[in-house]
Amino acid sequence: MENIHAVYNGRFDSLNNIKISPLSRAYTFSDSVYEVIPFCNSSTIAFDKHILRLEKSCNALSFQVDIKRISIEINELIKKSNLKNGYVYYQISRGIDNLRSHMFDQDISIETFGYVVSHTFSSQSLRVMFCEDLRWQRCDIKSTSLLGNVMSMNDAKNKGCDEVIMHKNNIITEGGASNVFFANDECVFTPSLSNNILPGITRDLLIIKLKESDIRVEEGEYTIDDLTSAKSIWLTSSTKGLAQVIDVIDKKTNIQLDHHLFKKCEELFVKNYFK
Ligand code: PDD
Repeated sequence: MENIHAVYNGRFDSLNNIKISPLSRAYTFSDSVYEVIPFCNSSTIAFDKHILRLEKSCNALSFQVDIKRISIEINELIKKSNLKNGYVYYQISRGIDNLRSHMFDQDISIETFGYVVSHTFSSQSLRVMFCEDLRWQRCDIKSTSLLGNVMSMNDAKNKGCDEVIMHKNNIITEGGASNVFFANDECVFTPSLSNNILPGITRDLLIIKLKESDIRVEEGEYTIDDLTSAKSIWLTSSTKGLAQVIDVIDKKTNIQLDHHLFKKCEELFVKNYFK
């Protein structure tokens, strides 16, 4: 296997050499949070926003972390890898229990783990499926508790899809690993942030650029019908960028491929963030 640069509790090593305890609370309870930080031409994209979100996730779970050390480790991983384009996966768990126990001991120390891999940021076309959002009530925390996402996305994979668009009682929340946007001829729309949605960095970057441009953007509550009547739908994430939905299985849609608003958004995004 290729040598993947990694870091565990501050110690850099190849991913293969890292050994973790089965009593890590990341393993027994998914009592852990994470970030995926992309870099292009050896420069991170929206580094400060990713670090701020990681800090917020840690605060939500009362993890005491040295965020400066973590920032240094993420940059060090990228440097050591010599990669131009890729991403760092970085995970923080509450620590390792003496014995599995829901109620944790205050004395355990935070456990950190990260690795860096190469990634090609190319435009993707996605086949998606709608599904009921099965997840818990705090999807705004970027935790590794992703079983709802995993179940739905693998169900979608078995049906020949690349992603899901989730809804709670017909109200669109987000993708399995992405945020949702759609457009008619005049305006771009995206579900507004709530405890049911991860505040995506890519979502935020796109909205900032849309607000600076002449393209109207609205955040609100939208239904499956709003999406099926839209002229364009796309999903955003740090690894997908802006990925156009080309087909929604079992639904009739009004999607026009290469719709002018999607094209403009893609252009704005690439021009500003992928230099
Ligand atoms: N996931 N919503 C969910 C549920 C996600 O998992 C992600 C990204 C996003 C988009 O967030 P951002 O634009 O900050 O990447 C929204 C990452 C990429 C992952 O789990 O691999």
